[in-house]
Amino acid sequence: MEQITLAIGKGRTAKDAIKLLEKANITFPDFNRDSRKLIFYSADKTIKMLYVKSVDVTTYVEQGAAHIGIVGRDNILEQEADLYEFLDLKIGQCRFSVASLHDIALQKGKTIKVATKYPNIAKQFFAKKGMTIEAIKLNGSVELAPLIGMSDCIVDIVETGSTIRENGLTIIEDIEHISTRVVVNKASFATKTDEIQRFIEKLKAVVE
Ligand code: PRP
Repeated sequence: MEQITLAIGKGRTAKDAIKLLEKANITFPDFNRDSRKLIFYSADKTIKMLYVKSVDVTTYVEQGAAHIGIVGRDNILEQEADLYEFLDLKIGQCRFSVASLHDIALQKGKTIKVATKYPNIAKQFFAKKGMTIEAIKLNGSVELAPLIGMSDCIVDIVETGSTIRENGLTIIEDIEHISTRVVVNKASFATKTDEIQRFIEKLKAVVE
């Protein structure tokens, strides 16, 4: 008798999000981050959780395969997802930053190579500065690109700063603060208003 389907991103997001859901008395007894299972049910069977790659959460929600998603704002921005963004869970706090080996000047009219998992965000940020970029799309270990001369800088999320530090990079400029959000499919919000609002209210009560 599940009432709502929730898509949640694997990895960093899941760890803190599951803790927060537990605080709100929403528990998934069979959930185990190391499991290869992709669907889990809440103890009261009212929530079906799809455990998916973080980058895909907005797709499941936009398609209506999940009514609700728990996802980083980085993915919402990059994918320009057409959904409602309802609640900042205040977890997964990090920032989008530009980092490089050297203190490069971000000047109008300049063209630079930028390695990133987020080409749209990077293009928009540099366009505002009047700069054009060649975005080199990578899917991870982005910090490597400037070290081997493949890019002038990177645009990536920085959480503790240790990846940047351990690879000898310097933050040139911060772009935006990021955190984990609750997103909702637009049509689902009309058809399942009460269930979705109840879920959001429970979470709201435990967000610091
Ligand atoms: C993310 C991000 C940075 C790192 C930032 O990568 O892309 O590389 O975390 O975190 P820090 O500031 O705490 O070091 P992730 O760990 O998701 O792995 P990836 O490089 O494979 O994408």
